[in-house]
Amino acid sequence: MTTHIGAAPGEIAETVLLPGDPLRAQWAAETFLDGATCVNRVRGMLGFTGTWRGHRVTIHGSGMGMPSLSIYVNELIRDYGARTLIRVGSAGGLQPHTGLRDVILAQAASSVSTPSSALLRELNLAPVADWGLLSAAHRAAEGRGTRSHVGVIHSSDTFYSERDDHTEQLIRHGVLGIEMEAAELYLLAARHKVRALAVLTVSDHVVTHEALPSDQRERSFADMIEIALEAAFA
Ligand code: ADE
Repeated sequence: MTTHIGAAPGEIAETVLLPGDPLRAQWAAETFLDGATCVNRVRGMLGFTGTWRGHRVTIHGSGMGMPSLSIYVNELIRDYGARTLIRVGSAGGLQPHTGLRDVILAQAASSVSTPSSALLRELNLAPVADWGLLSAAHRAAEGRGTRSHVGVIHSSDTFYSERDDHTEQLIRHGVLGIEMEAAELYLLAARHKVRALAVLTVSDHVVTHEALPSDQRERSFADMIEIALEAAFA
């Protein structure tokens, strides 16, 4: 048991999927895992462990934003031995070709700051995905006929940003989408020598302001979970 995770030693699998929303973690565990049991409910942050095609998997909420994700990912890696961590979540599309429902496989994640910034100071270390997971996720998306894009995303500190100039620069530099967690996940994975990837569905578009209705969010979420599971055990 750690400060934020109530699981007993051994109750967390080496492969962990990380949706932001704890209720999404519950839904995904009940839908995709066999024999899923709840292993954490501290502060309402739910985690479940079960099996997928015979492989042990934990699906655990990360909360919203990098400070929250950092707490869970630190404990999952350092105290429970997680070795493969895949964020499954939503992103705002930035480019004309990143349409609603498309999947973005985040090859790298830019940021203004992350919880690791204080440690890294002036070092602008590039937070990157694990190549094996990234290429396997791309194959899985292609195999399922899901429209996917591989490239750079931006992990923001704010959902309600008032810096339009940032958005302009992100678009100009080809950044595919914006979310709030992947950069810190990738930095923690690099520090602890584990594998990480973010699989993201475009749920809204920052320029056109289109947004996915909630019933379609569920279908896209299911697609992402399957891509993540196929990539984890490819
Ligand atoms: N996650 C989903 N859409 C987002 C957006 N527009 N900004 C930041 N994070 C997001």
